[in-house]
Amino acid sequence: MHLLGIDEVIFGASDLEKCRQFFLDWGLSLHSESTQELVFTSLNGCRVVVAHSDKPGVAAGVEPDPTLREVIWGVASHAELELVRERLKQQPGFVDLGTRVGCTDPTGLALRVQVTQKQAVTLDCAKTNTWNDRQRVDQASPAYDRATPIEVGHVVFFVTDLAATSAFYQEHLGFVVSDRYPGRGCFLRCAPEGGHHNLFLLQLPQPRAGLNHVAFTVRDVHEVFGGGLHMSRCGWDTELGPGRHPISSAIFWYFVSPAGALVEYYTDEDELTEAWQPREFTPGPTVFAEWAIKGGIDGHTRRQKDAEAPSGRFMTDKPR
Ligand SMILES: [Fe+2]
Repeated sequence: MHLLGIDEVIFGASDLEKCRQFFLDWGLSLHSESTQELVFTSLNGCRVVVAHSDKPGVAAGVEPDPTLREVIWGVASHAELELVRERLKQQPGFVDLGTRVGCTDPTGLALRVQVTQKQAVTLDCAKTNTWNDRQRVDQASPAYDRATPIEVGHVVFFVTDLAATSAFYQEHLGFVVSDRYPGRGCFLRCAPEGGHHNLFLLQLPQPRAGLNHVAFTVRDVHEVFGGGLHMSRCGWDTELGPGRHPISSAIFWYFVSPAGALVEYYTDEDELTEAWQPREFTPGPTVFAEWAIKGGIDGHTRRQKDAEAPSGRFMTDKPR
């Protein structure tokens, strides 16, 4: 039994009006709204919920709002959900909501599992011409005025006990280690076959629990760039990007989110199988990003806004 990926995320925040505009600009569809809750969907039916901090019934966060309160993972069938129910029922914070079961992980984050509500989608994506492989003939490559994310592909948390938290996801939910920063970080994927990571856990030198970012998969590099430029034109702040991760090989662009921490557009991550051997890395700016633009690109001039040499610190060491 392996999880299929992230079905839903639930943020807790108080400025719902700002979150509403942010996620609309981000490219999600607003499914429903009330004074207590915004529900957005991505292209494949993955849900992004922003619950008002006062809304009852949402799990407590591992840090003050705004932050991510719950991560809901999908399984293929009711039989698999039953297996998960059995596996988790002795765990702290166990909840059984019928169609959704869950517990809290060793960091205190609420995780839930449900039969997936996402649908398979077929999308036109950019084809690439390389020296050896001409995939695009008599056809221009796409450009995007804005992004429409396909799904939430991964979440990244600061954890207080990296060893215990990564062991928990492996032992109870079948996650597989893709790569590691020994003692500092662990990249995990839901199943032996799949994208490089669905979950990345980080432990700071002075450990604290919290959200680092929520990442949205888009079709291709051009959608990362088009989406990022649109967010910039809308006035939202880049944290870092565009850029490229050496670990996972993904092209990324991070924005500061009113729903907590950062959100990321990414694409073209490594696809792994059981043959993949986890690698070990030492944290550093060139390991985090092969290249990246600090401060982003101005959406109107299409030129770099700001450039600053890396400090030599691990990016996530930055105090909040
Ligand atoms: Fe990421």
